[in-house]
This record gives sequence, structure tokens and C-alpha cells, in this order.
Amino acid sequence: MDRANPGARLAQLAERLRGARRVSVLTGAGVSAASGVPTFRGAGGLWRSYRPEDLATPDAFARDPVLLWEWYGWRRETIAGCKPNAAHDVLARWSQRGDATTIVTQNVDDLHVKAGTAGLVRLHGSIWELSCAARCASGVAPWRDERVPMPRLPRCPHCAAPARPAVVWFGEALDDRDLRAALDATACDVFLTVGTSSVVYPAAGLVDQARRRGAFTAEINAEATPATTLVDLAVQGPAELVLPDVDRLL
Ligand code: APR
Repeated sequence: MDRANPGARLAQLAERLRGARRVSVLTGAGVSAASGVPTFRGAGGLWRSYRPEDLATPDAFARDPVLLWEWYGWRRETIAGCKPNAAHDVLARWSQRGDATTIVTQNVDDLHVKAGTAGLVRLHGSIWELSCAARCASGVAPWRDERVPMPRLPRCPHCAAPARPAVVWFGEALDDRDLRAALDATACDVFLTVGTSSVVYPAAGLVDQARRRGAFTAEINAEATPATTLVDLAVQGPAELVLPDVDRLL
């Protein structure tokens, strides 16, 4: 690999993608950064002084559901005004070419959905869906709620217990079907990780899993991450520029 020559790295990635029968892409918050969605870590990543690891937990919700809804309300208001960018568009186009490309995302903003991504695996749920925090029998399935702004404390329409965002918090298990689909996606020829700090598991472990299963692995990210030294090829740069550049070489 030629670390000094970014053009050569893009050409190498494009060549691998051209020769691949099955491609899997894992995305994170960096893919939506150019759309105006704040990332969790790195510059501008914090809401007030809270770390997501302290806020996005069942305990934090049980302690202060109104505070949690303030955070989610702020994020929903921000995301409501955001549109998919060139990175989402390229990945959506790749996903529409049969079932050869699988997009797995940690993002809850649904911008991949808005871009028209086919067969998307949403590992961490959607910020536009709610579920019953008491897990009442009739409110078990998440429901869509796109109200902006939200009431201070939205309620389950079935049992009137507080409702929560239908997203996966720290300490919670991923949905079985989504996790299985993500693990299936590691059986591929090229596994590409884009715009994620690669620190939150199990998503962060997928690239290593793909590598051990024989995939060529690559990362596109604005800065170095724990995955950078693990992958076969790392491209440092903004996803909304790098992905269209790679796409043009295909
Ligand atoms: N292009 C590519 N990468 C970018 C860009 C960009 N335009 N802008 C920022 N980045 C990179 C940052 O350098 C950082 O490494 O994207 C990464 C975003 O990392 P995080 O904010 O940690 O987001 P993510 O990896 O998706 O977080 C994982 O943590 O809090 C939880 O559930 C939440 O799904 C989230 C999970």
C-alpha cells in the first residue's frame, strides 16, 4: 500500500471494489457530519458537558427521563433539517445494484433511508421511532413519531408509561435480527468502514471479523481510529468527498 499517495490508495480501493462480488459497508456519525448532524466524539461532539456513554443508558433515562428527552429533542430538531449528502448518495446507489452491497449503519438519523438505501441494516435503531419504556404488551413494537418539537415527556399510547427513543443504548443488546444481518455482512470480499471512531462494540468488531473471514478491509475516516492500523487500506479524508472520488473510478 502506498501511504504517501492518496490517489494510489483510492485507485487500489476502486480496483478491489470492482473485483468484489460482495461488498459490505459499516457507517458511523462521520458520514452524516457534512449534512450537519453533530458527531458524538471529536470536535463539537458533546451536548452540554455530557458524554454519550453517560447519557445514552437505561439508568440515565430511569433517573431523569426529561433530561434524556431534552437531548433527544435537540438532536431530532437538528436532524429534521438535515439532508443526505454525497456520501449517503453514493452508498445508496451501490446498495441499489442487486444485493451485492450491504450497508450497515450505527446512525439513528435515517439519512441513509432518505437517500434511498436498499436493504439497510440499522444496528442502533432510529431516532424517529419510539417504544414503551415499561415494555407494555401492546406497546412492544416501536412506533414512528416524527413530531418536532416533542412534548417534555412523550407517553406510550397504550399504557401511558413514559416512551423512550427506540434506539440501542449503552449496556443494551442489539436487536437479534440486525446483529445477525451485520454478522452475515462480514462474509464479503471487501469490508469498508466509513466515518466511525471504531470504539463502540459490537459494531467496532465487525471489520476485524470480516478481516478474519478473508475480506479485504478498508477505512475512510477524517482521522486515525483504532481500526486504522488493522485494515488493509486506510484513506484519511471526508467521506462526502472520498466516496464520490472512489465511485468515479469504478
Ligand atoms: N468524513 C469521515 N469521517 C468523519 C467526518 C467526515 N466528514 N467527520 C467526522 N468524521 C469521523 C470522526 O473523526 C470520528 O472518528 O467520524 C467519526 C465519528 O465518530 P463518533 O462520533 O464516535 O461516531 P460513531 O463511531 O458513529 O459512534 C458510535 O456511539 O454514542 C454512540 O450510539 C452512538 O452510534 C453511535 C456510536
